[in-house]
Amino acid sequence: MKYLKSRIRSLQKKIKNLEILIDTTMVFSSILDIDELLNIVLQKAEEVMEAEVSSVFRIDEKKNDLYFFIARGEVGKEAKAIRVPMGKGIVGWVAQHGKPLLVPDVTKDRRWFKGVDKKTKFVTRSILAVPLITKGKIIGVAEVLNKKGNRRFNKDDLELFAALGNQIAIAIENASLYSELDELFKSSIRSISEAVDAKDPYTRGHSARVVEYSLLMGEAVGLSKDDLNNLEISAILHDVGKIGVPDSILGKPGKLTTQEYEYMKKHPEFGAGIIQPIDRLKKLSPNVLYHHERIDGNGYPTGLKGKRIPLPARIICIADSYDAMTTDRPYRKKKNIRAAFEELHRCSGTQFDPKLVRIFVTELEKQILYQST
Ligand SMILES: [Fe+2]
Repeated sequence: MKYLKSRIRSLQKKIKNLEILIDTTMVFSSILDIDELLNIVLQKAEEVMEAEVSSVFRIDEKKNDLYFFIARGEVGKEAKAIRVPMGKGIVGWVAQHGKPLLVPDVTKDRRWFKGVDKKTKFVTRSILAVPLITKGKIIGVAEVLNKKGNRRFNKDDLELFAALGNQIAIAIENASLYSELDELFKSSIRSISEAVDAKDPYTRGHSARVVEYSLLMGEAVGLSKDDLNNLEISAILHDVGKIGVPDSILGKPGKLTTQEYEYMKKHPEFGAGIIQPIDRLKKLSPNVLYHHERIDGNGYPTGLKGKRIPLPARIICIADSYDAMTTDRPYRKKKNIRAAFEELHRCSGTQFDPKLVRIFVTELEKQILYQST
């Protein structure tokens, strides 16, 4: 009877573990942001294994050491700066040998490296660490520390954590492939917009600065990572439509004639038309199309008004105008920063979104103050 009861308990535990694995598999397939994903998975692992904290290390092949990729718990911040030499400590051993390790009492294990505890003031009692292996290559280590209630990690914990480790490794690999692809994508569109900027010697570097100013506002208004990414791409591409404007108009040293100006005003539509057929960019085309609209409805190309103008377009409009004011143009000299701020305030509520102007000026002032100290 006693045997049966303990057998049932062990089976129940196994089922519970399987449930956790299925749950986390769902998480893995639904979240793209690797930090968020690993935080959720590690939190689950802590819950099930009743561990105090957990972390994921990645191997830096060039430096032949390991660094904290995710460090949960109160000491997480301090831990981020710590690096563990390959082969050193429990984590270094697991990284070197590619085998999981269960250490019930770290004080009794010669491999134990006190360096991390010293810096974080955390007291480690027990460790369960598994290697993160993908395509036969060790890319890092995941660990849980200190089973609550002074108990010990057991074989079931090890089994479950090893299975989680396999999924974590795949997720990290996928995320780095994704971010490599994303970077490749961004650098290609960056080179297109640089080519457009270069058509006019006075706008060289313009798109990169518009990106910088736009992100400053985007971060200050609290946009999500995804929205910031979309804002960045929209800002890179905001003037891509100038590719369709003849060089004789773009590079004209003097003032444009009315007819030339009317042609120039078509560039937001050209730009939206260029990105519309590209699946990944389609949803960003309104940000490009409306970046010359005004809050009072007197902008172009459609006269859209107020909050109907998408937020990224309102942000890019301010970034774009500020950069135009603070760089030399063939027909006028650049304004100094103060004068440009005044101009932004003067046109606040007519051309620009007043709240965004206030945020932009405040953030830029902070940045200038920081650079001068
Ligand atoms: Fe523009």
